[in-house]
Amino acid sequence: MKGIVLSGGSGTRLRPLTKITSKQLLPVYDRPMIYYPLNTLIKAGIKEILIIVAPERAGDYLNLLGSGKQWGVKFTYEIQDEPGGLAQAFLIGENFIDDDDVALILGDNIFEDDLATEIKSFSGGAKVFAKSVPDPERFGVVKFNEQQQAERLVEKPQEFLSSYAVTGLYVCDARAVGFAKELKPSARGELEIVDVLNKYLERNELTVGSVTGEWLDAGTFDSLLRAQIIAKDHLTKNMII
Ligand code: G1P
Repeated sequence: MKGIVLSGGSGTRLRPLTKITSKQLLPVYDRPMIYYPLNTLIKAGIKEILIIVAPERAGDYLNLLGSGKQWGVKFTYEIQDEPGGLAQAFLIGENFIDDDDVALILGDNIFEDDLATEIKSFSGGAKVFAKSVPDPERFGVVKFNEQQQAERLVEKPQEFLSSYAVTGLYVCDARAVGFAKELKPSARGELEIVDVLNKYLERNELTVGSVTGEWLDAGTFDSLLRAQIIAKDHLTKNMII
């Protein structure tokens, strides 16, 4: 399995912190934010990792992370010219993914759980990890039917559909690339990851796992503060990088 960390975007919600650096390079306690999602992939035994970055920050990533040799892995870099949605990662990563399975993780997503076993046990289709949250309107959510089966994934629903957010780790087989190519931009002008995942769901090939520990999308001041606290209290002891 290959790994992709999507670490583009301009971090507008964290201005002025992000005026001179990338959101995913900001400190979360004693490490840059991107170390946490990288740790999730490396702990799962993934050795080839593509890091997708915004053009103006590419040099900073190279300086910080280099080849990956220091952690026994190989990093490759690609540029995301414009932030056009998460599903773009599959298009940018097409050659890198080739015919392999891929775990895509967002550079600002921090998981307390060790998901190595969940990632390693992937056996085709797509797998997402859901977590009940108080503010589901901020995320993609999983709508369940009366039998508690996943029915549809919906990006940032205005009306309440479910409290289960889809966290920013997506394990997919190589068909994700072809599915991403079929997408049209959504109303907010992005290629939505939920639209790729719904294609697996329609084929009965989407598995919805769960996250029991804390999970943070560290893209706001409050979630960044919370991330610092859980990093200090819980996360650093599980880090291998
Ligand atoms: C993105 C995804 C959303 C997901 C979230 C997790 O949201 O579009 O489905 O729940 O990441 O962090 P965005 O960060 O683009 O608002």
